[in-house]
Amino acid sequence: MREPLFSTRITELFNIKHPILCGGLMWLADADYTAAAVNAGGMGFLTAKTFPDPGHFRNELEKALSLTSGKPIGVNLYQSMRPEENEVLEGHLKIALDAGIRFFETAGLPPTSLLPELKEAGSKVLHKVSTIRHALSAATKLDIDAITIVGAECGGHPGLELVSSLIHSVLGPQQIDIPVVVGGGIGHGRQIAAVLGMGADGVLIGTRVLVAEEIWSHLEVKKQIVNSGAADSTLVMSSFRNTSRVINNEFARAVQDLELDRVKDFDEYWPYVKGVNAFDAYKSGDWNKALLSMGQSAVFANAVEPMEKIYDDLVDEAASALDRLGGLRSEHKE
Ligand SMILES: Cc1cc2nc3c(=O)[nH]c(=O)nc-3n(C[C@H](O)[C@H](O)[C@H](O)COP(=O)(O)O)c2cc1C
Repeated sequence: MREPLFSTRITELFNIKHPILCGGLMWLADADYTAAAVNAGGMGFLTAKTFPDPGHFRNELEKALSLTSGKPIGVNLYQSMRPEENEVLEGHLKIALDAGIRFFETAGLPPTSLLPELKEAGSKVLHKVSTIRHALSAATKLDIDAITIVGAECGGHPGLELVSSLIHSVLGPQQIDIPVVVGGGIGHGRQIAAVLGMGADGVLIGTRVLVAEEIWSHLEVKKQIVNSGAADSTLVMSSFRNTSRVINNEFARAVQDLELDRVKDFDEYWPYVKGVNAFDAYKSGDWNKALLSMGQSAVFANAVEPMEKIYDDLVDEAASALDRLGGLRSEHKE
């Protein structure tokens, strides 16, 4: 693990070496992933929704904590717009708190109903949004500790406004007093130095670590990501106001065809969009047969390698960006 290069409000909040956070990943953010991020000097968020069975969730948390030798891990609590999908949340929250988890990434709906219990237990809550407007509203109205703003480049849900991380990186820290984490399109250490230079306190990554050895998905899926360029993701489901950035594959194009034909009947989309397709594709390796979240930073995911190597490279690249900037200052020139 590299020595700390940056000290920010995010490294302080989570007591970590590097301000590099690994976000919740549906189906993939399990104990191995979460612990690998923590052991590499960052913070990882285990996706509660991936483990609907309470016993399984509890075991996964215990496994993660044993893999980090008790070092704190984070949990991702995603609140869907469909209430029936949130039924497990309350139980999961209790299990996580009982297991000693105090770091939470919330996403989807504002975590208003979860906050009293989270804060009562002394948790640190990082809420994730995709617009400056939502970030400002959450930072001023909710008892949260930090905010993540993801840009249009991100894998998963980039929101509807599709403003780039380059814009968020300046506007967020300018307008928001609590610590700001920027996510979306980040997969190279030079970007980390730049984003911190623009005022952020940390970065959130997802796509870059989809090729980590600790991610359980089939090697064929990882190979597809390794071979992807910056333009190999695409947007689907904007017509349902639920935009997703995914691998540009057969299923994504089938969904886009339905959207182009202005089909409004969700049942016609269901065979393509149902979540379990992704689980099956991660398992079988058939990456064409699901909507698989992936962002533009896939271009930086060039090899399947251990999480620690990915973190080390990011830190080294950030250090070289700082050196370059130092060298560019006019007083250093002959
Ligand atoms: C495969 C995949 C699955 C994801 N699943 C979730 C999820 O279940 N909950 C969530 O809050 N965010 C999820 N995200 C978003 C990530 O936590 C993170 O915000 C995003 O990946 C950052 O942008 P990047 O992909 O450009 O690095 C997912 C992203 C990917 C790539």
